[in-house]
Amino acid sequence: MKSVRLPLGLLGLALLTACAGEYPQSSISPTTDFADTIHGLYVTIFWWTMLILTGVWIVLAYILVKFRERPDSPKPKQIHGHLGMEIAWTIGPALIVVAIAIPTIQAVFATQEVPEESLVVEVIGHQYWWEFRYPENGGLVTANELHIPMGTPVSLRIHSDDVIHSFWVPQLGGKRDANPLRQVPEGQDLKYNWIHFTAQETGTFMGQCAEFCGDSHSLMGIRVIVETQEEFDAWLGDLAAGHPQTVTQSQALNATTEGLPAPTAPALAQEETGQEEAPPAEDPGTVEGRNLFLANCSACHAINGVSEAGVIAPNLTLLGRRSSIAAGLLENNVDNLVRWIGDPQSVKPGALMPGLEYQGGRPPVVWPAFNLTPDQVRTVANYLYSLR
Ligand code: CUA
Repeated sequence: MKSVRLPLGLLGLALLTACAGEYPQSSISPTTDFADTIHGLYVTIFWWTMLILTGVWIVLAYILVKFRERPDSPKPKQIHGHLGMEIAWTIGPALIVVAIAIPTIQAVFATQEVPEESLVVEVIGHQYWWEFRYPENGGLVTANELHIPMGTPVSLRIHSDDVIHSFWVPQLGGKRDANPLRQVPEGQDLKYNWIHFTAQETGTFMGQCAEFCGDSHSLMGIRVIVETQEEFDAWLGDLAAGHPQTVTQSQALNATTEGLPAPTAPALAQEETGQEEAPPAEDPGTVEGRNLFLANCSACHAINGVSEAGVIAPNLTLLGRRSSIAAGLLENNVDNLVRWIGDPQSVKPGALMPGLEYQGGRPPVVWPAFNLTPDQVRTVANYLYSLR
């Protein structure tokens, strides 16, 4: 029995390794120059470690064989202290530490280099979600799913709105603390933390807050969508356009004189083709959902083109396109939106979003519970999910 234990154990280990598959949050499949540098360091140190380990094993094997106990072998010579060896095993590890430190320090400096030109994105940590602002693109804002273009240097300007968080998307690079901004003496710059990198492939990359920040620290995910420049530009354009109320053609024609909202693209297109028919009327559910949003949610949340006053909670423009809600916690669908709006505390303890009265409304850290009926919640959820 004993003889099969080791082979069985090794087989089990091999199977476990084979099952592991793709790691969504792994630093050993880098996709940016920054992550590449870190990975290169890891690989270099790994192979030096292997070399040292092999050397130690060879010496160990030699000693085990050469000095094994034999019948009638004499008692080995007893020694007490050996100056030469003590110096050797102090200097040896010190040299190893120096050998690791040199490339590490080089990598630290290499990854801190500020690119001459880059797309600056402001990353703001909140309990328990992420805000992404594009200061060079009209201050556009999104939440939890960061979009960046491939092949363009990106500079993330990181800070926090409350406690310390840490931005970490392993395939894009190392982690960086998101610290609350302290006041600085006049003339000095605010102390942001920065990450600079250039993404080398498109895809969706997962990350996670990496600094304990409260009850729901572990529920503070990040999704980074790296896309082509064209896709990114189109996304930014859609984000800027938002979801304005569809206006009828006659309203569009009168817009300049009556101070109504500017005509939407479809309305203008129709104007150019000279067609008389009005754009399709809005779905009554959309209108009701939007009105419920305006009455109950817009003090905290913004939707571009609808209401942009609420800035303390995630901006919900293009929400229907996001693959997840609640900072990567739930798949984005209407049922999960209903669940989240109904009782956020049961999903994410400590979230600032108030719940509903009919749910027992777990409230109100700060705000009173909402007073919506289950039907109204579903109407709002449907509306939010329709924002694409
Ligand atoms: Cu934010 Cu941990």
